[in-house]
Amino acid sequence: MYLHRGAASQDVPRRRFSTGPDLARALSIGDLRQNALRRLPRVNSEYVEGGADDETTLEGNRRAFDSFVFQPRILRNVSSIDLSRAVLGFRSALPFAIAPTGFNGLLWPQGDIAMARAAARAGIPFTQSTVSNSSIADVAAAGPSAHWFQLYLYGEDEVWMKLLAQAHDSGCSAVLVTVDTPVLGNREWDRRNYQSDFTPSLSSRLDMLRHPTWVWRVLRNGLPNFPNLQQFVPGQNPTLYEVARWSLANQRPQTNWQTIARLRHAWPGKLLIKGVQNLEDVRMAIEAGLDGVILSNHGGRQLDRAIAPIRLVREARALAGPEFAILVDSGFRRGGEIVQAIALGADAVLLGRAMLYGLAAGGEAGVSRAIEILRTEISRVLALLGVTSMTELTPEVFGG
Ligand SMILES: Cc1cc2nc3c(=O)[nH]c(=O)nc-3n(C[C@H](O)[C@H](O)[C@H](O)COP(=O)(O)O)c2cc1C
Repeated sequence: MYLHRGAASQDVPRRRFSTGPDLARALSIGDLRQNALRRLPRVNSEYVEGGADDETTLEGNRRAFDSFVFQPRILRNVSSIDLSRAVLGFRSALPFAIAPTGFNGLLWPQGDIAMARAAARAGIPFTQSTVSNSSIADVAAAGPSAHWFQLYLYGEDEVWMKLLAQAHDSGCSAVLVTVDTPVLGNREWDRRNYQSDFTPSLSSRLDMLRHPTWVWRVLRNGLPNFPNLQQFVPGQNPTLYEVARWSLANQRPQTNWQTIARLRHAWPGKLLIKGVQNLEDVRMAIEAGLDGVILSNHGGRQLDRAIAPIRLVREARALAGPEFAILVDSGFRRGGEIVQAIALGADAVLLGRAMLYGLAAGGEAGVSRAIEILRTEISRVLALLGVTSMTELTPEVFGG
């Protein structure tokens, strides 16, 4: 993977990531990733890791950060550094939030609750996916410092209206409508593990047995369900498979800007669309009265050969002006990359896999470790740049 490289890495024998149970010894997101991949059965690690088609977007997301090279300033007093950042009306302790990811319960029991708690402890926002394995109310009860809800549109308008009402009742302050999934991306490495739509192949099932700790920890209470969607599926207590089939059958490729206008009318809080990859759509989002966009290619899981969102940040900010929220995700694994995004004009970064690696490696403690690693990295990078706060970060750090 395009993560830890460098001239020396091929030459030094027996270089190894830190993957033991002592999470304090994980020094980078790369360590947590290796740890997670060791613990998870293949069917789950492919679910987390996989990208669409040839995974060109996935890899391009990582490479894109190389296009922005720092030109640090020296001899500035950096003895006190403030990492906090105002985002969507919330003062986040760090310039990032947890991205919405579905099926977190496959990585750790009550995975969403574990993530929400770790986010609360760190003072950063947690975004709950529509296809979360916990109800919106249960996540709210875990006490996130800022609870954002990600909306997938399924079926009739009544479905999203009900979900928005539940998000509102649970105190969610922002809704992120994901708009880059009119159809599901082609994640072949993920699909190869299944013999039919939702049934793992024999070799995947055998591979699960080679991960008895995961089987015991995650499966002992049965497979996690999708409580936010169960309510829409006919029948008493629909199973995970029934809910998954319902969601496939109720995708809404007809969604358009008129749908977004109806959502804008219905949701009083902050409303953003997630999955914007074109400046013309940034302009249309502003015209639609939205509060912001998430520049994202879904972590390379949807359209292959798509632009890396970090490349859009600077122009999107120039177009949108200072008030409109611009968040960005896809590919972020290092604090320095988060610093790049803020310097280019993003309000904050969303982190998908970086947090999932922590979750799979050690539940809530693992997510806390992932956040801590990034906090330390961001602080160090700012000091080395001669910058003491997020508001001081401008494109000047690239010398321009
Ligand atoms: C396992 C996994 C599940 C995801 N599930 C969702 C989801 O339910 N809703 C959504 O809007 N995005 C989902 N995403 C995309 C993330 O919100 C985010 O855009 C992406 O992970 C960012 O890229 P990164 O993983 O490189 O940080 C998922 C991503 C992953 C890796």
